Amino acid sequence: MNATGMTQESPAARIGLGLMRIDALEDAAIRELYSGARQAGVTLFDHADIYGGSWHECERRFGEALRLSPSERAEVTIQSKCGIRIDQPGFDFSAAHIVRQVEGSLRALGTDHLDRLLLHRPDTLVEPEEVARAFDELEAAGKVRAFGVSNHTVGQIRLLRTAVRQPLDVDQVQFGLGHAALAAQGIAANMAGTPQSTDRDGGLLDFARIEGITLQAWSPFQYGFFEGTIFDHPEAAGLRAALDRLATHYGTTPTAIATAWITRHPARMQVVLGTTRADRVAESVAGAGISLSRAEWYELFAAAGYEIP
Ligand SMILES: NC(=O)c1ccc[n+]([C@@H]2O[C@H](COP(=O)([O-])OP(=O)(O)OC[C@H]3O[C@@H](n4cnc5c(N)ncnc54)[C@H](OP(=O)(O)O)[C@@H]3O)[C@@H](O)[C@H]2O)c1
Repeated sequence: MNATGMTQESPAARIGLGLMRIDALEDAAIRELYSGARQAGVTLFDHADIYGGSWHECERRFGEALRLSPSERAEVTIQSKCGIRIDQPGFDFSAAHIVRQVEGSLRALGTDHLDRLLLHRPDTLVEPEEVARAFDELEAAGKVRAFGVSNHTVGQIRLLRTAVRQPLDVDQVQFGLGHAALAAQGIAANMAGTPQSTDRDGGLLDFARIEGITLQAWSPFQYGFFEGTIFDHPEAAGLRAALDRLATHYGTTPTAIATAWITRHPARMQVVLGTTRADRVAESVAGAGISLSRAEWYELFAAAGYEIP
């Protein structure tokens, strides 16, 4: 604990590595990425049953390339997600689907448990009691140790909590300088006539802080919804210039500054990277160790095109 009573943690604890893009990598490249992340201090590895385009493809590539020893497995947090169907339209939070997908993830990853399971995208046909039944069964069998959600609003979390006993203390959401609605909305909440004031998540950012829910920022560097990165998108030239200026000021890289922008928020989010390059993982870990000033945080926010009323 430090003088303000807050727990000290390493910058690497704020960074996770997402494995959504490893399907095209050779085994050796997967090993290089993993060991580079581990050397940088990263322990959180993020999967989903749908990554790679067919069920469990990226999980399988990860499991087969790495074949983690029991001692290495014990040192890392492996989380996966389910609930999006790729074999039929929509979403599926039925108990049978959740249990089946977790069992598939365990086989593909070559592990006997997930450290955490996230429900990937809200299923409006959800029956919270069914989710509760699946979670209880998976927990009792030792197959999943903790649970959370992804892309869920405040209301959707509260609905699940009417039946689910386990804490839902992670929500993985899209957040970064290229899509900062999570924070931008609250800043403009009372500004009629600006799209930024539209409440899309029921005040998730503040709810997460009040309830101790860790927000995990996915696609931290994407511009919009998979339109390229904030580092090279033509419409993000002003943002890139601001990132470059601060990178020079701190003697670091734009990737580090874009990471620092997320980790500077007092919601203490984790950043789920999608890079396939170990050097970029290390850059982000370095960024998580930089504490931007308020002025710098808002300068980047404005450079990303958001309004400061
Ligand atoms: N919960 C959800 O609904 C959801 C949705 C999408 C993703 N995710 C999770 O979030 C993770 C990250 O998503 P993402 O891959 O879209 O994230 P990202 O880190 O924003 O994007 C990574 C991509 O940007 C490229 N890139 C280009 N310049 C870069 C730079 N300077 N620094 C870093 N990357 C750069 C990377 O290329 P290189 O490989 O060449 O570095 C890679 O193709 C996924 O792996 C997945 O685990 C979750």
